[in-house]
Amino acid sequence: MSGKPSNQASLRMAIAVLASGRGSNLQAIIDACAAPDFPARIVLVLSNMPGAQALQRAKQAGLATAVIDHKQIGSREAFDKAAQERLVAAGAELVCLAGFMRILTPGFVAAFHDRLINVHPSLLPAFPGLHTHALAIAAGVRFAGCTVHYVRSEVDVGPIIAQTAVPVQIGDTADTLAARVTASEHRIYPQVVRWIAEGRVRVEGTRVTIDGAVVPAAALINPQPTISVSAKK
Ligand code: GRF
Repeated sequence: MSGKPSNQASLRMAIAVLASGRGSNLQAIIDACAAPDFPARIVLVLSNMPGAQALQRAKQAGLATAVIDHKQIGSREAFDKAAQERLVAAGAELVCLAGFMRILTPGFVAAFHDRLINVHPSLLPAFPGLHTHALAIAAGVRFAGCTVHYVRSEVDVGPIIAQTAVPVQIGDTADTLAARVTASEHRIYPQVVRWIAEGRVRVEGTRVTIDGAVVPAAALINPQPTISVSAKK
């Protein structure tokens, strides 16, 4: 899809969001979609958890929801087949994982190749998997952040579309760092959806290009330098 964003449903990219829990990233996308010039609309919110807060958020926004309870359905393949059927029936052109706590089968990932994205709360490839904030603090890194990436079969691996960097503060706990990173996720995830829906994102192997994207020129330094050094000698 390309060209000028339009609020006509037929011209807005149909996206689905898969979520298992709180759904704050879903909410950020819902809020973004409410803007008349946002080039995407949510056609389905799907969860594996019948009690997920994400489902309440979706219903509150008047969105179509589906629940496939992984405890009921049996195998991973059966779950992914059912999910794929729901997504295809809803006409999803892009599938956004937002706190979706299930590993997807290679068949599912292949069916949505370059149409399946995820947000992960670390600067990948550092700290894939769980407990990212505690691991980042223990490693003493000065920056944490989040990554929005295309999904491949390996967990938390795939071409990186965009990242945020947030400073790790003195005295941070996993919770305080998580709050800062999560807030940054809410800024970046809807932005990536917009770029994709505007047809500006291209994947070439492991690299992603975004037409017209502006790259910041300044270095981020943490801790802040207290001396100024001239660039020229
Ligand atoms: C986010 O930190 C996301 O990066 C990770 O799971 C969390 C989901 O949070 N994959 P929410 O359900 O969107 O609030």
